[in-house]
Amino acid sequence: MAKRKASGSAARRALVIAVDGPAASGKGTIARGLAAHFGLPHMDTGLLYRAVALNLWRWGGDPSSEFEALRACDVLAIDPGDEELRSEPVSRIASSISAYPSVRTALLDRQRQFAGQPGGAVLDGRDIGTVIAPDAGAKLFVTASPEVRAQRRVRELLERGMPAHYEDVLLDIRARDERDSHRAVAPLLQAADAILLDTSDLTADEAIAEAIRLVEQRLTAC
Ligand code: CDP
Repeated sequence: MAKRKASGSAARRALVIAVDGPAASGKGTIARGLAAHFGLPHMDTGLLYRAVALNLWRWGGDPSSEFEALRACDVLAIDPGDEELRSEPVSRIASSISAYPSVRTALLDRQRQFAGQPGGAVLDGRDIGTVIAPDAGAKLFVTASPEVRAQRRVRELLERGMPAHYEDVLLDIRARDERDSHRAVAPLLQAADAILLDTSDLTADEAIAEAIRLVEQRLTAC
């Protein structure tokens, strides 16, 4: 697969790729694959919300208090290898505190700066194509059925040595979809100009290959 050239004509307009979608849809895998293919840096914006949630959880803060959640935004460094970031309690808290407007505002600059870096970037999350980088050169909205997503999340948790039960995970995914899609600020929403990619019947490699094809097609059309 050809990598994007670093110099040359039109080109060399910074390429920003926005990848949005619900929990365990495959957006992270796809975003990493796109970043590797196009030689771009990648930000998993969910990690920011998870880091705030973990911070709050560790000092025993109350997720139902927007004020306490905002205080927890004071996260200087995030260790992506910290297993607790992916634990179910932290996932649940991340989903609820991400509905607070002040929390979203506090995390905005970090994401916009990443998206605005000179060489371009790939970001994945819930509101990249709609709020963080509305002018992104290519936008994907990645989805899969709740059942497939629950199976993937169970596999992921078990591989990390964490407890996981399919029925509980499915319920949690549905609850999170509901919360993420219906919050007042920056709800999970397919941008009007985003391309829909359903990964229900695709392996990870197939999903990445399809995402690359769709992005290249979009770039050629521009
Ligand atoms: O990996 P998964 O899709 O389960 O979650 P994530 O992308 O790590 O995001 C964790 C939570 O943060 C989600 O449930 C969202 O509510 C929230 N989030 C958000 O509101 N906006 C983003 N750009 C990214 C995540």
